[in-house]
Amino acid sequence: MKAVVVERAAPGGLNLSEVPDPEPLPFEALVRVGAISLNLGEVRRTKNKPDGWRPGWDFAGTVERAAPDGSGPPAGARVVGMLDEGAWAERLAVPTKNLAALSDGVTFERAATLPIAGLTALYALGKRGSLLGRRVLVTGASGGVGIFATQLARLGGARAAALVHRPEKRDAVVPYADDVYVGADASAARDGGPYDLILESVGGEVFAGALQLLARDGLLVTFGTSAESRSTIDVAPFYAHGGRSIYGFIIFHELEREPAGLGLARLAALLAAGTLDVHIDDVLPIARIGEAAERLWNRGVTGKLVVTF
Ligand SMILES: NC(=O)c1ccc[n+]([C@@H]2O[C@H](COP(=O)([O-])OP(=O)(O)OC[C@H]3O[C@@H](n4cnc5c(N)ncnc54)[C@H](OP(=O)(O)O)[C@@H]3O)[C@@H](O)[C@H]2O)c1
Repeated sequence: MKAVVVERAAPGGLNLSEVPDPEPLPFEALVRVGAISLNLGEVRRTKNKPDGWRPGWDFAGTVERAAPDGSGPPAGARVVGMLDEGAWAERLAVPTKNLAALSDGVTFERAATLPIAGLTALYALGKRGSLLGRRVLVTGASGGVGIFATQLARLGGARAAALVHRPEKRDAVVPYADDVYVGADASAARDGGPYDLILESVGGEVFAGALQLLARDGLLVTFGTSAESRSTIDVAPFYAHGGRSIYGFIIFHELEREPAGLGLARLAALLAAGTLDVHIDDVLPIARIGEAAERLWNRGVTGKLVVTF
């Protein structure tokens, strides 16, 4: 079967290659992939991996063979799921705890956007408990995680503010947020604060500035450094305000507490009901995977980029 592998000399450093078919373990279903979506983090990882390494987290497709232990969806079921790596392939062996069933109305293209971006948004928002009547700020709001996060914050009953970096991406975010601010640092979002919860993925000055926009007892969840990893913060006003805290979020740690299948079932239900929307920038065929990765890497994407098999 064909799978995407790292190949330095190929466009975007990725190519399609012939690899052995997967051999599912007792708790794994065999899935034929219909669509995948790309995430900035995995494209970043491909840059440091040797030729032959197989990237890929998100996919949607059809169960070809149910797990031998009887767990998970039956053969023929349409599913969304994720792997720790290697999901950009025609067929996958997937632990059933990482799968959720899809209703017929949800396309593979839309479902494939959910795993890393949707679960990160869902589980990060969950860190502050009930969002009813809270003020939430999402930085990096035009990205894959950001567009899900602003929508889910609203669905949870919060007033959702979005901080968008580049002005040309603003309009895409407007339908999903209560307030949209544009700027290269967090002070652009000061008017909507102070915030009870901030989902922060830009790093650098945005991280430092966002900390000072927290309300008393507010929480900043940091999960990305799209701009910069290092940050210098003014410590005194941070603590003097009272009760502010920072949570370091990495999705693979959160998934040890709540497996992907559970969160994906919640997200897929919202998608099927039409209460959650997906912003798909483009859909490309798998033969153009290198171009897709380059586009995401060069920040030419708003929302999610999907690739079909
Ligand atoms: N910890 C975890 O478990 C976890 C999970 C998922 C994602 N992440 C990380 O979270 C971040 C967002 O993920 P994603 O998939 O949503 O990525 P994405 O779709 O590429 O979005 C990145 C966002 O960051 C903004 N951005 C980039 N450079 C910026 C800068 N210099 N200043 C301000 N904004 C900037 C982009 O806006 P412009 O294009 O306008 O610059 C865009 O809105 C990534 O860094 C990713 O690695 C971490």
